[in-house]
Amino acid sequence: PNRQQDRRSYDAEGAETRIEARIAAGRKGEFDNTPDTDPDLVGNRTWGRAIANRMVESTLGTDAVEASRIGDEAALNDAIERGVSAADAWQELGADERARILYRAAEKLEEHRADLLEVAGSEAGKTLDQGDPEVSEAIDFANYYAMLGQQLEQVDGATHTSKKLVAVIPPWNFPIAIPAGGTLAALASGASVIIKPASNSARTGAVMVEALWEAGVPRDVLQLAQFTDRELGSKLVADERVDRLILTGSYETAETFRALRQDLPILAETSGKNAIIVTPNADLDLAAKDVAQSAFGHAGQKCSAASLVILVGSVAKSRRFRSQLIDAVQSLTVGTPEHLDTQMGPVITAPSGKLLRGLTTLGPGESWAIKPEPLASDSPLALDKNGENKLWSPGVRDGVRRGSEYHLTEYFGPILGIMTADTLDEAIDIVNDIEYGLTTGLHSLDSDELATWLDRIQAGNLYANRGITGAIVRRQSFGGWKKSAIGAGTKAGGPNYLHGLVDWSDAAPAD
Ligand code: ALA
Repeated sequence: PNRQQDRRSYDAEGAETRIEARIAAGRKGEFDNTPDTDPDLVGNRTWGRAIANRMVESTLGTDAVEASRIGDEAALNDAIERGVSAADAWQELGADERARILYRAAEKLEEHRADLLEVAGSEAGKTLDQGDPEVSEAIDFANYYAMLGQQLEQVDGATHTSKKLVAVIPPWNFPIAIPAGGTLAALASGASVIIKPASNSARTGAVMVEALWEAGVPRDVLQLAQFTDRELGSKLVADERVDRLILTGSYETAETFRALRQDLPILAETSGKNAIIVTPNADLDLAAKDVAQSAFGHAGQKCSAASLVILVGSVAKSRRFRSQLIDAVQSLTVGTPEHLDTQMGPVITAPSGKLLRGLTTLGPGESWAIKPEPLASDSPLALDKNGENKLWSPGVRDGVRRGSEYHLTEYFGPILGIMTADTLDEAIDIVNDIEYGLTTGLHSLDSDELATWLDRIQAGNLYANRGITGAIVRRQSFGGWKKSAIGAGTKAGGPNYLHGLVDWSDAAPAD
């Protein structure tokens, strides 16, 4: 082996080891929410408190956001030109050199962990125990995609051409990990990136991008953008010099972008309406905890969140599981993210439209097991940009009927519906009725039930006897079926993700 290959395999192994260590430890983040009676945790807790205190007044990222504003077509054109020109040198660097910079990006993200937690809490209501795994996931993406970029070049010879310019349009609900994932994948493939973080989490996106610049990613290769006018965002996507769009958002948003340019390959993660089935063979204590966490982590604002629990047979008929679930939900501490005991934070803006309906209006035959309510708070982090209250308690509606609006609609907030089925097969049919297929879960300790479910269920990410959020890079690559995904993409954090970003048509055969 030559020196280059030695270095390549050393780096790749390093990345693998770092991700494996985290998986082996059974966690994605380092933050521990345990009360600080244990002396070993006091340091961690103090660290967390210092970050939380800064959330209320945080202005991190403001300057970078202001500097990134693109106000007219000339400025947009300029940014696109710069990105396309910079891609040549970035590609010529080769996968190894790019990987070196991206491994350093992983270190920089770690260095800025506290900043990222501060700004994500301040802007997007992320509690520390939700934000911390996001930073870890961003770090895993950096290590993993860098390694995949190296492998891709090895398999294909050094001459395949990646696309030149990728537009990354991420959501506000995972304001650290999702912007980082799309950006790092595109960079590892050899492309330049223009990233437009969601306006509700623009500062968090900016702090993430600054960490990558600090690691040595050139500023023309990675450009941060905010558009003063929505039309400019559409113009970016419609521009023929953009080779790929990496998008995470609702199905409707993805369709709008797809309509702009039919020939543009899109890698989109879209909506979800996700259910957990609980059978009489489940560990019911575990199921109640997992359903509550999957439904109300980050106030249910995850495409992966549980929005339905389907109780099968005797679980549906007895009161036991329902009362365990209600206990689990009512014991969640709801508050703003600067309080360390908060387990469920606010939603991103005061609920309106579909979410408000979901929180206030029952369908035929439904009743409130727990009625959601707006909560009073004196924290500025309970108010949205218009000064309206965005802190609500969690809600559980019982008696959701098959085919009803609640059964089939994504609400994206702190609301869970209970449905019932006579058999596991019927419960699976209820899940498969839904036009989305992102995450789904089964709680059952019976291997025949598990086999039936695996055989018949329609969703991208399947979780048995655990919660259904929080996929781990490399271990559980993430992506949906049906209307939960659009376009050319394979699963994020999985071995084939970079393949959707390179141009195979002019690849030279490996020698
Ligand atoms: N990747 C995120 C999760 O798995 C959306 O919850």
